[in-house]
Amino acid sequence: MDQASQVREKIDIASFISEYIPLKKAGRNFKANCPFHNEKTPSFVVSPERQIWHCFGCQKGGDCFTFLMDYEHLEFIEALRILAKRTGVELKETFDNKTYSIKEKIFNLNKVSAKFYNYILVKHPAGKIALNYLTKERLMSLPLIETYQLGFSPTGGVALSNYLLSSKKGFKKQDLYEAGLTFERVGRVFDFFRNRIMFPLTDHRDNIVGFSGRILSDKQDGPKYINTKETLVYHKGDLFFGLSAAKEEIKKQEQAILVEGEFDVISCFKEGIKNVVAVKGTALTENQVALLSRFTKKVSLCLDQDNAGFEAIKRSLSVLEKKGLMTTVIIPNGKDPDEAIKKDPYAFKKSIKAEIPVYDFLITKALTEEDKKNALGKKKITDNLLPFFAEISNEVVKEHYLRKLSQEIDTSYESLIRETEKIQTGREKDVVVYPTKDKKTRREVLEEYFLAIVIQSDNPKAVLSQGLQVLGDYVFESTSYKKIIDQLEDFFKRQDGFDGKKFAQDLPKELLKSFDTCFLLPLPKFETNDKYYEEARKSASELLTFYVKDKIKELSEKIKIKEKENSPEAENLKKEIINLMSLLPKALKA
Ligand code: GTP
Ligand code: MN
Repeated sequence: MDQASQVREKIDIASFISEYIPLKKAGRNFKANCPFHNEKTPSFVVSPERQIWHCFGCQKGGDCFTFLMDYEHLEFIEALRILAKRTGVELKETFDNKTYSIKEKIFNLNKVSAKFYNYILVKHPAGKIALNYLTKERLMSLPLIETYQLGFSPTGGVALSNYLLSSKKGFKKQDLYEAGLTFERVGRVFDFFRNRIMFPLTDHRDNIVGFSGRILSDKQDGPKYINTKETLVYHKGDLFFGLSAAKEEIKKQEQAILVEGEFDVISCFKEGIKNVVAVKGTALTENQVALLSRFTKKVSLCLDQDNAGFEAIKRSLSVLEKKGLMTTVIIPNGKDPDEAIKKDPYAFKKSIKAEIPVYDFLITKALTEEDKKNALGKKKITDNLLPFFAEISNEVVKEHYLRKLSQEIDTSYESLIRETEKIQTGREKDVVVYPTKDKKTRREVLEEYFLAIVIQSDNPKAVLSQGLQVLGDYVFESTSYKKIIDQLEDFFKRQDGFDGKKFAQDLPKELLKSFDTCFLLPLPKFETNDKYYEEARKSASELLTFYVKDKIKELSEKIKIKEKENSPEAENLKKEIINLMSLLPKALKA
């Protein structure tokens, strides 16, 4: 057995997937809202029996590996390593070396670089000014510097590359470039970061994906912060600063506090507030929210007390609401959390306790900006707020805020509703409707159902044989279902019982997906086992009817043409129709 199969044997896919998304028992399978596309009714199914998953909405599916790869955007080898570790399967050394992934090479390079930068900051004379700045001006202790692995990139512009390319370390030029650590000018290699305080940026698994570098003094040229350019592992807008250190505390507190900058996170940590992550000055993205929503359902925005910070609250809100996260606002007692803590840590902690639900915050803010007594002011307030209220997915919450607003500005609840509806219908017009790809014909849908009935019944052999009796000379529209049925018949020549897992193992690869679909297709709840036989016969007879009718239609058209041509063949075709009619189930012939 290969190593991937060993992992598959040991893992329980249902409990594994349920660590990522909540699963609900549905018959012998589990169901959930699909994490790979937006939906309100669950079409994502997990089969513990077969150890597979499938989504009937977006047609994605597979095993534990494909789930992890899709969910975490990993390569196969990375998924294998994670799951092997989890299941205690030992990966063979040779295998390891040969398939060392490019991503892991970059993680490793970044780790070595972070250590280098950290060494320069803490131990080397070249880092003295930076260390002084951090400890004296930013009040960072040495343990805190270690916790976040802060560092310093020296001024010369070659220190890191010389170190990494030295024979002792032996990294290659190309690798450094791919990690975003260097760039080349006229054939020479230079460090990307120079004369900056270095913040390693990690993903939530604690891999260092890149760096953020801050200038030492405001007189220094260039932007205050620069980040690693896009690499295979660093994607702007996919990570938070501090998440790997904060995630356990976020789960425990059931709350993530979102701040803007690196120093905000570190200062909070210093004060024992450890459920804090930074967006790093950019707008909150859907990827970030999806990531965060795995750890908590509540996000508290504690952003800078300026107009940019306020705009960021508004822009973040719709992304958060879409993911169904509850959002609150924390107003720090200073320009940002870092400064607030420096001023008065106790007051800052109090402001966290005094968090305000975001919609209450927006109402209060809007009321201070406009005069709610005159019509124009009322219009401005509602123009500002209703677009946000229209997006609230929970109707009870939505009504709560519409009522609150109606009281505040002394306007009827009904007119607020009408205005909100205008916004909603306006938006619906913008919604793009995607054509459902390769839509199945009614016969294909019924063929799928027929096969699902057979393999999900308690006695597939008997149910299939009854169905086939009714089907008679039926010709399948979907060749893969036909092939699976042929394989089933073959299978039952050798044995009576049916083991879906065993059967799937011997099935040609190209049929596996169709088989999985039927295996997992949600069926109505049948009270008795007899119902499977009945449904198999019923759907078989329906299929036959469709087939005959389609065929008759086709022949009739031909007959028309042949009759026009006065061809004797018309008579033969008519006989064919009569033959076909005899195939029809009895009830339908009458
Ligand atoms: P400090 O002065 O270091 O405390 O910075 P701050 O956190 O108060 O900075 P500010 O509020 O200006 O910005 C918040 C966050 O946005 C920073 O922590 C950075 O992550 C990011 N940021 C700030 N300036 C820049 C910039 O010039 N370029 C980029 N890419 N990011 C920036
Ligand atoms: Mn700030």
